[in-house]
Amino acid sequence: MMCLREIKTMPKLEGKDHTASMLREGYQFLRNRRRGLQSNIFETHLLGEQVICLSGEKEAELFYDTEKFVRKGAAPKRVQQTLLGEKGVQTLDGEAHRHRKQAFMSLMGAEQIQQLKVMAAGQWERKLRDWEQQEEVNLYEEAQELLLRLACQWAGVPLKEKEVKEKQKAIVQLFETPATLGFTHWKGKKAREEMEDWIGGLIKSVRTGALIPFEGTAMQVFSFHRDEKGKLLSEKVAAVEVLNIIRPIVAIAIYIAFTGHALIQHPEECEKHASGREKNLQDFVQEVRRLYPFFPFNAARVKDDFEWDGYKFKKGTLTILDFYGTNHDPKLWNNPEVFDPSRFVDEPITPYNLIPQGGGDYMENHRCAGEWVTLEVMKVSLDYLANRMMFEVPTQDLSYSLVDIPSIPKSEVILKHVKRKN
Ligand code: HEM
Repeated sequence: MMCLREIKTMPKLEGKDHTASMLREGYQFLRNRRRGLQSNIFETHLLGEQVICLSGEKEAELFYDTEKFVRKGAAPKRVQQTLLGEKGVQTLDGEAHRHRKQAFMSLMGAEQIQQLKVMAAGQWERKLRDWEQQEEVNLYEEAQELLLRLACQWAGVPLKEKEVKEKQKAIVQLFETPATLGFTHWKGKKAREEMEDWIGGLIKSVRTGALIPFEGTAMQVFSFHRDEKGKLLSEKVAAVEVLNIIRPIVAIAIYIAFTGHALIQHPEECEKHASGREKNLQDFVQEVRRLYPFFPFNAARVKDDFEWDGYKFKKGTLTILDFYGTNHDPKLWNNPEVFDPSRFVDEPITPYNLIPQGGGDYMENHRCAGEWVTLEVMKVSLDYLANRMMFEVPTQDLSYSLVDIPSIPKSEVILKHVKRKN
């Protein structure tokens, strides 16, 4: 008897190219189209190229199957020139990726994460002392500075006091400009060149012995890291990787602004944290990461022709996974638009359903190397905001856009008359 395989036609968006709608609809574009087509998988054209769009848990599992997808040639040049840098871990596949990722994950041991938590609390103490002397503070901006100091301290990067403002501005440009055009994109590109020169110079000093970072810090690890063929990384690539630690730690400022946002919008949640119980802190920050927008999606290319669920995937096809839509998928999350940290009691987290920082396995896949860093820094920050300080909330525009990428609350979260809680 012959067994017939069903080959399905992939649902397709009508019209030639949907780049304009994507820019207009931002985080919601993929979700809106998925709803319209009633399908978690569909085909469209973006920037003149055929693209397969995936959303949902089992689709995320497919996207992270390294036998089926590669990252080579997937990240747009524009994003590499600002956000990511060139030839970094994000662009690697197979053994080269595994080898580089191992160096990243060697920075994330229990002892290093514990040190990071102690350093983060120290930075919050310092800021709290300053804030008590000020009429009002901009939480987003203040968090950027706090996190830059923390990132450099933890990564073994010397940061002079007079450099703080200038470096803060440049690093923020890297993650605020990836999806921009024209002058703003040019500023992001220039900021990347400056930051790579700065860190590249420090790598050179480490290699000559003029600068000696602590063992197990990003500066030490990447200054001496050899690729899978035993070749020392170029100064530029080593700088790209150290910046792959510094830049995203500073970007946690966006999540700290949203943590402040969630506490202001849900004052009842503050009481839950009075005990400082780890589980409550964890659930709250996980819900911040699930609900609020950050990265909308990521891209890969089909490695070789294959079939999945009756659909044909052709070698080289650009494929994107909808992070925001999966975190808001009503099939995965009850009332997905509602902020509810207690949801995780009944809705357990899997490697593929909560994916604000990517999914799958840390070592084998491109899942964010800094997810534990993000969670721990957010928990320390939440503990300070909810338990260790009091503040007033002046009238301000706390709305945030679902079109601008990255999205940040409009007022950047202003706090007034900050005082330490006794
Ligand atoms: C601010 C919050 C953060 C967000 C929203 C975020 C998000 C992401 C996303 C979406 C990816 C790509 C996942 C994929 O390709 O499938 C990623 C990768 C990565 N992230 Fe993060 N991240 C954050 C914080 C951090 C931190 C704090 C660090 C370092 C301390 C970090 C280091 C990295 C690295 C090295 C990669 C590349 C991993 C690889 O290609 O294998 N990130 N992140």
